[in-house]
Amino acid sequence: MKILGIESSCDESALSLIEIDKNRIKLLKNLISSQVEIHKQFGGIVPEVAARHHAENFFPLLKELDINIKTDVDLIAVTYGPGLITSLVIGLELGKTLSYIYKKPLIPINHIEAHIYSNWLTHNELFDKKKTFPVLAVVISGGHTQIFLMKNYGKYKLLGETVDDAVGEAYDKVAKILNLSYPGGPIINKLSLEFTEKPSFEFPRPMINTKDFNFSFSGLKTSVLYKWRDEKREKNQELIKEYCNAFENAVCDVLSKKIIRAAKKYNVKNIILGGGVSANSSIRNRISNDTQKLNIKTYFPEIKHTGDNAAMIAITGYFNINKKKKNNFKITADPNLKLPAC
Ligand code: KG4
Ligand code: ZN
Repeated sequence: MKILGIESSCDESALSLIEIDKNRIKLLKNLISSQVEIHKQFGGIVPEVAARHHAENFFPLLKELDINIKTDVDLIAVTYGPGLITSLVIGLELGKTLSYIYKKPLIPINHIEAHIYSNWLTHNELFDKKKTFPVLAVVISGGHTQIFLMKNYGKYKLLGETVDDAVGEAYDKVAKILNLSYPGGPIINKLSLEFTEKPSFEFPRPMINTKDFNFSFSGLKTSVLYKWRDEKREKNQELIKEYCNAFENAVCDVLSKKIIRAAKKYNVKNIILGGGVSANSSIRNRISNDTQKLNIKTYFPEIKHTGDNAAMIAITGYFNINKKKKNNFKITADPNLKLPAC
């Protein structure tokens, strides 16, 4: 079965073609047109600008994809939420149009679910249901920080989420405070690793000891803001690295502690992370080390599948095949789409 994935929920326009044969995934095409360079000058994503570029990007991407949709595609999977409404509608309407012209079934995809299933693109053993579930699925991205208990494919129980900023949002805001570029996550990650000593100060770990599985990153960001504002030392590169390291230590502590507690409480067999922030090497090392002690296997997507991409949308189409309809033209974009509770 060959599935065409379409993604446009934020600032990446993406198309991908995957082939699934007996639970083996072949990534046939994977194209992403990133708008990072455009939004850099604004220090963040401007929705109106993102939408206009999606509209301009998709036809060149489709040309570059260079496939015969009529013969090379069995299903079309397209993101319909959550995300920026102006961005979502561009990809969704492209999906509807291709589905109409080529008479292919269209499957609407939840972007958060796709970040979870991005792991199935690489880790074939996850197709073994008995060994995989129950799973703790953790989405850490620019828009979301959520922990789900997944008892089976498509069965999600939201255990906790951020009560304010998403973790990626905190990375981007802290980068802005430290006069670093956008997106801040990868830059902070790199600078933090270059600081090899123990920082001379610590930032708070908000909500680390609460009994729930919620997070708060806004207060952490504000602590960085105030400390940087009142900083008496010379604000040189070495000091920025120390701030990055101290910030990342706080993030790792909070994420690891809550994930481990949830994994123990719900007696999961595996932990799966996904989303842009799951590319972070400090977070990967910390969570892998901490969970190894518990004998729980932790999975991360390949780095190229951590940020927004269309391969994860295509594979999520495979797991939502029951939503297959010939003419799914009434779907509307939902910027606040949630995963169905169970
Ligand atoms: O999943 P994603 O591409 O888009 C959303 O669905 O939000 O995530 C983007 C976020 C940005 O906030 C970016 O700074 C962050 O992922 N990010 C990272 C790293 N790479 C990307 N954060 C921390 N460390 C990284 N290496
Ligand atoms: Zn995303």
